[in-house]
Amino acid sequence: MRVLVAYSSKYGSTRGIADRIADRLRDAGHEVDIEHCDDVEYPEGFDAFVIGSAAYVGKWRKEARKFVRRNHELLAKRPVWLFSSGPLGTERVDKDGNDMLVEARPKEFEEFADLIHPRGDMVFYGALHKDELRGPDRMVSWMPDNGLLPDGDFRDWDAIDDWANAVAAELAEQPA
Ligand SMILES: Cc1cc2nc3c(=O)[nH]c(=O)nc-3n(C[C@H](O)[C@H](O)[C@H](O)COP(=O)(O)O)c2cc1C
Repeated sequence: MRVLVAYSSKYGSTRGIADRIADRLRDAGHEVDIEHCDDVEYPEGFDAFVIGSAAYVGKWRKEARKFVRRNHELLAKRPVWLFSSGPLGTERVDKDGNDMLVEARPKEFEEFADLIHPRGDMVFYGALHKDELRGPDRMVSWMPDNGLLPDGDFRDWDAIDDWANAVAAELAEQPA
């Protein structure tokens, strides 16, 4: 299977998750390209897609949203998996007892379920390094620390590997 991992990442941590997913798919014998969503020139050349973005203020980044909407007719005909990266910290539930990964689902997942019928979607913990933030994002480092955006790398590589391996196994069952 020729698979495209298409991503949008502002500070690089989602790119790291995309790389890791691509590695697992390659380990399973798939042919994998990894490209930024804005750089994909010929999506028709791929049999399957994994599309991921960081979440900012509840939404996927613009390049990823545009990629899905622009290519929705093609994506609806091919196997697609979506992932989002965002929640920070080591807690599994928020202060109200809600699952952090469910709460962090970007708005677009519901729309894209109807539009392209992805085989699966997943939210992964992300990373934030406040000293690297640019422009208006820097306000985060000036705000009082309310625990919502803690500094650090919280990416859960085991969860990412498990999900990517499951995607690889499903792809292996697709007719060539
Ligand atoms: C200004 C700002 C807003 C954010 N908003 C959200 C959000 O709404 N939901 C979420 O899960 N994570 C949010 N995050 C955390 C980022 O999604 C997380 O740091 C992510 O891993 C960044 O990915 P990147 O390095 O690929 O850009 C926010 C981070 C910043 C700096």
